[in-house]
Amino acid sequence: MYNFDEIIERRGTSSLKYDLAVKKGMPRNILPFWVADMDFKSPPEVLEALSRRIHHGIFGYSDTFDESYFNALFNWYSNRFDWQIRPEWLIKSPGVVFSICTAIRALTKPGDAVLIQQPVYHPFESSVKGNDRRPIVNRLLYIDGRYQMNLYEFERLIVEEKVKLFILCNPHNPVGRVWTREELTQVGDICVRHGVYVISDEIHQDFVYPGYRHLVFAGLKPEYADIAITCAAPSKTFNLPGLQISNVFISNAKIRRLFIEELKKTGYTLPNLMGMIACQAAYEEGAKWLDELIGYLAGNLALFREFLTEELPAISLVEPEGTYLVWLDFSKSGLPDRELEQLLIQKGKIWLSPGSIFGAGGQGFQRFNIACPRTVLQQGLNRMKEALKGFING
Ligand SMILES: Cc1ncc(COP(=O)(O)O)c(C=O)c1O
Repeated sequence: MYNFDEIIERRGTSSLKYDLAVKKGMPRNILPFWVADMDFKSPPEVLEALSRRIHHGIFGYSDTFDESYFNALFNWYSNRFDWQIRPEWLIKSPGVVFSICTAIRALTKPGDAVLIQQPVYHPFESSVKGNDRRPIVNRLLYIDGRYQMNLYEFERLIVEEKVKLFILCNPHNPVGRVWTREELTQVGDICVRHGVYVISDEIHQDFVYPGYRHLVFAGLKPEYADIAITCAAPSKTFNLPGLQISNVFISNAKIRRLFIEELKKTGYTLPNLMGMIACQAAYEEGAKWLDELIGYLAGNLALFREFLTEELPAISLVEPEGTYLVWLDFSKSGLPDRELEQLLIQKGKIWLSPGSIFGAGGQGFQRFNIACPRTVLQQGLNRMKEALKGFING
């Protein structure tokens, strides 16, 4: 019913994904598959809600003090994740990275150790460093084409480095894992045992492929809720990141107070009006759109998989369980990262995210965003093949 095949011109719309390329000296007609936003319009129900507000015409200081915003979130989390939130847990913020930085400052002191598991979304490391804390890296294990947590090292590093805070990426960008109950319980128990707080970044919660299930970390045990800050947003799910709205859930009253105190120091008090309107409409009316979108993305993924098997067998696709980001293993190609990047950009005219930006273990990989119309994806894949012709075995 929804048309995800529609091609919408995004050049000239201040789009980071499209309009930054020329500024960076890349070819004008490059196809971008890097930053994690989608080339699809937000659900029509969201556009209608925004449009109604535009026609009202006044955009004064705003907050949704009424219950309807909370109820929209409550129903979404209850229906999709069997997690029942309470009104007092909710804090709105302009973004997940903003919330992560705020939480780091609220729960740790300068010089404290913060654990992350690379390769991981790169602002985790920069947020820790930027706030003068020490990133401690526990590398994910890559075994038989699948990523796992190294639990032995996880606990060892926590003890030896006196880790105060762990930033969990669930589902995990860029490797596409949707962590299981067993894995989350193992890390959760270790954190409880050693008094380590957990920021659970669940921004990719809604993108989970058939056969997998997203579990809210804080919902697994009361002891986890007691050490956790859950950061989530409608922005990835409904393609709204430019509207700057995210939701933070903290059930522990002391942690919540510390977070709010830190938030106040930034001067941020009121959320973005259009973001709140979009968020509420999306959670109230966007479920059907999202379910169709996941089916469409699964189709894109199938096309990708088939293309690599037939045309570029030297590149392995790390099967994603969630997210619309595909993690590609180029290590068998023998091409150094820098050369590969140049080939993709200058010869192939496609812009991916180089794996090395995600930290340890990212070398030899590229991340490819498949949230685009299928014809655009096909074009991107053809260009990748062209770029690599003569450099790696077809
Ligand atoms: C794991 C993860 N966290 C956070 C973000 C960005 O969130 P925000 O734009 O709300 O800061 C992204 C965007 O790609 C992401 O992948």
